[in-house]
Amino acid sequence: MCGIVGYVGDEYAVPIVLEGVEKQEYRGYDSWGIGANTEGGIIIVKHKKPDDQEFDWFVERVMRVDFCSSRNAIGHNRWATNGEPSDINAHPQTDCTRKIALVHNGTIENYRELKDFLLARGHIIKSETDSELIAHLIEDMQKQNGGNIRSAIIKAVNQLQGAFSLLIMHADHPTLQVAVKKGSPLVYAEVKPSCFMVASSPLPIIKYARNGKDIEDGQIVFIENGKAEELSFADEKIKINPIIFEGTEEELKHEGFPHFMLKEIYEQPCKLGETIAGRVFTHEPFIRLGGVEPVLPQLLACDQFFFIGSGTSYRAAMLGAWMFKNYLNVRAQAVQASEVGSHNILAGCQPDKTVAFVISQSGETRDLQLAIEEIQAKGVMCLGIVNVVGSKIARMTKAGTYLRVGPEIGVASTKAFTAMVLSEAMLTLLLGRHKNMTRDECITFANQILAVPGCLELIFQQADEIQTLAKSMVDQSALMLLGRGYHYATILEGALKMTEVAYIAAVPELAGEMKHGPIALIKPKFPVIVVAAKDGLRGAVIQNIMEIQARGAFVIGICTNGDEEMQKLVDKSIIIPDLPSHLATIPAAVVFQLLAYYLGVERGYNVDKPRNLAKAVTVG
Ligand code: F6R
Repeated sequence: MCGIVGYVGDEYAVPIVLEGVEKQEYRGYDSWGIGANTEGGIIIVKHKKPDDQEFDWFVERVMRVDFCSSRNAIGHNRWATNGEPSDINAHPQTDCTRKIALVHNGTIENYRELKDFLLARGHIIKSETDSELIAHLIEDMQKQNGGNIRSAIIKAVNQLQGAFSLLIMHADHPTLQVAVKKGSPLVYAEVKPSCFMVASSPLPIIKYARNGKDIEDGQIVFIENGKAEELSFADEKIKINPIIFEGTEEELKHEGFPHFMLKEIYEQPCKLGETIAGRVFTHEPFIRLGGVEPVLPQLLACDQFFFIGSGTSYRAAMLGAWMFKNYLNVRAQAVQASEVGSHNILAGCQPDKTVAFVISQSGETRDLQLAIEEIQAKGVMCLGIVNVVGSKIARMTKAGTYLRVGPEIGVASTKAFTAMVLSEAMLTLLLGRHKNMTRDECITFANQILAVPGCLELIFQQADEIQTLAKSMVDQSALMLLGRGYHYATILEGALKMTEVAYIAAVPELAGEMKHGPIALIKPKFPVIVVAAKDGLRGAVIQNIMEIQARGAFVIGICTNGDEEMQKLVDKSIIIPDLPSHLATIPAAVVFQLLAYYLGVERGYNVDKPRNLAKAVTVG
């Protein structure tokens, strides 16, 4: 995915847009670009991010250029899809005349046909991007219709297939910015009278305005001469829905912490408190989930449940499915969003007795959007477990629950994961209360959920030890993670964190499966992290630990507070609070988050911006 941002008004536009580009770095950071409309034409500065440089380097490049006090600028963060990261592929992209400049987030599916068409008409295409073709297409349409930019843009966007949000400027129209949306997110606001900002997310705008508009698919905003005109792709006047932008400036900074990832790890007690605030009670009704209650009768009639997500959200999905099976005694299955189309997952399902929970931090993940479309086409209800309020996935679902953890900026998901697990526990309680749980069981279950935020403190008390452990493993290129039951999802999540922020090949394996092959990796001193919690599987895990210790492995145990026997058995222990295993996954995941963080930092990596990644994956 990429980020786009623009400002047009009476202030100097470049500093505002530059700040917006920095705030949207989580959306992509392999290249940055700025374009400003000036009396002398459109001036563009765009660069691939050098391996050893950060955003300040780009700021310095921008500062070298005289933008002639431009009041109209657009900016871009790139996460490469079509064409490698390079200066030429960075945005803004321009047409042959360099009069049209645009920034683009999304992918154009009819890229090849458009390229052939434009080449045949003599356009000179300089980059490998699909985005550049849009600028040429507008140029072409403009030539065909006697120079009218407005109808040229409308004609051009109607020829594009795929997902795109665009911000377009034209050298002959000094105050013009055109925002176009289909599939990729886009919001805009009048930040003060006659001054406008447009962006992929509210983050660049909230400093200036709280009231904005959420541009929907098939909508265009023409901003010119201090006025915004809202149109459909069919060139009809429309009214775009107003929204209030949430979040605070504070949430966009990592003050007091060296990285967003660490800040977001430490925020978990407070943010998880918000996830459950006003929702879980130790007395009747035990649970209140306002976003789900309108569909509760339908939900209670269901006997088959799917939990669908990608990456970290898929790991959370596994836990949701297991909670439903174990506590509600219903059929429940987790599926990776990208696999929904590969298997006939709904085979034999009765649509009115089936529900799919779709899980996403960003609410933008393309694989999940495609999965939702496929599931809904078969008449099955999708309910969201989503963080970003009003995001595409939240709007595609009939109802659902928000995570309430605020913006997650670090690319590796941390607080969203634990809030997803807690939300699934709340859903389990909601259904259990109406289906099969006794009053006492509800009280116990509610008390356990309520205990989670506070008990994470125990992990933070061991942060120095975890850091020391990370230091001792800094030269490892591989390690193994073992778990059973619910903790299989915990170690999958732990391995993902270590892989993405520390670039360590972390092999997650079901402890019981280890002897069927992975044990071949074990040799003296090979580090193996075992989730060795005090639960029904403890005895089997002890057996597995002894098998690998017999072969010389160095065993780091994530052990339950008070389980001294286990702590003595392993070579090094990290203690997690005594919670039932479906919830013990939360503190155990926090241990892995901290370990991955310190490993990444000790190995010298920028953990907030891991190689090749972006915060939301909007390509399918
Ligand atoms: C890993 C990570 C990704 C996301 C995945 C889904 O730390 O962040 O694996 O979990 O791309 O993203 P969302 O939850 O936004 O749908």
